[in-house]
Amino acid sequence: MNEAQVEAYLTSRRAWVEDALERELTRADKTAPGGGGVQRLLAAMRYSLMAGGKRLRPLLFLAALESLGGKTAAEAKPYLPFAAGIEMLHTYSLIHDDLPAMDNDDMRRGRPSCHKQFDEATAILAGDGLLTHCFCCLLSAAGEPELLRQAARYFAWQAGLGGMVSGQALDLAAEEQQPDMAGLRNIHAAKTGALLAAAVVTGGILAGADERERELLERFGYQFGMAFQITDDILDVTGDAAKLGKPTGSDAANGKVTYVSLLGLKDAHKEAGALTRQAMKTLEPLGEKGELLRGIAAYCLKRDC
Ligand code: IPE
Ligand code: IPE
Ligand code: MG
Ligand code: MG
Ligand code: MG
Repeated sequence: MNEAQVEAYLTSRRAWVEDALERELTRADKTAPGGGGVQRLLAAMRYSLMAGGKRLRPLLFLAALESLGGKTAAEAKPYLPFAAGIEMLHTYSLIHDDLPAMDNDDMRRGRPSCHKQFDEATAILAGDGLLTHCFCCLLSAAGEPELLRQAARYFAWQAGLGGMVSGQALDLAAEEQQPDMAGLRNIHAAKTGALLAAAVVTGGILAGADERERELLERFGYQFGMAFQITDDILDVTGDAAKLGKPTGSDAANGKVTYVSLLGLKDAHKEAGALTRQAMKTLEPLGEKGELLRGIAAYCLKRDC
């Protein structure tokens, strides 16, 4: 699949995801209890969620769902609540990641971070709201009930103790402990790889992928996720804050060990390239079914935001 085809797919499905997120928020606005406090909470959730992220995780979910399940566009649409839930969880992780007690960053997605625009307590609750509402969305998607159960369970594990939340705990502890390369790999796999793997694996599960296909998707997700976080570390040094929509230099200011601090820029670039190629190779046994995901991995390696 060439770059223009990948780009066209991502543009089309990004519009689906934006619509799905809007639908879910509108429904929440209508059904949550009234009162000024709740209005403020919903406003903060909307503020961070609708600020125009890349939507990579729901896009990977849809790509895996459509590729592995041979689904037409019309058949994929009833799964959009699952895609929306994935993005809600990711956005909560960003809101909490920016809090003064964590990375203390003032900008996100081109706007003041949630705690800057609102206040810390509201930002904590907005994260809590997105985290819990994620599971309402996941579980209201289409799908054979047993597959939906498996997908939601896997997602919860990867987003929490089996992945992202544990990864964030390791990331914070590492500010004091200064890990070596093996330690850093562990952190990146947990805080970032786990959620990207969850996006593709849950798409695969709901598509009816067999055990071997699920394993390949998971391996791909972690390899791609590692390359994605290395690029994030690189952009924290070389990127343009206006394009990124978040501050640069945050890692150094927080004393984080990153691929750049351990390897230098040149070797960090090389490593991101090597991992992307590994990820693409992992999906070779899937043949045509892996083409779109391989194309997305190659596309992301060139990103500058
Ligand atoms: C940022 O994720 C956090 C990381 C895991 C690197 P993204 O780069 O996907 O952020 P958005 O969703 O586009 O804002
Ligand atoms: C964040 O990693 C990973 C998350 C789970 C949110 P970073 O702290 O490097 O992400 P950015 O650079 O703030 O987006
Ligand atoms: Mg962080
Ligand atoms: Mg951060
Ligand atoms: Mg970063």
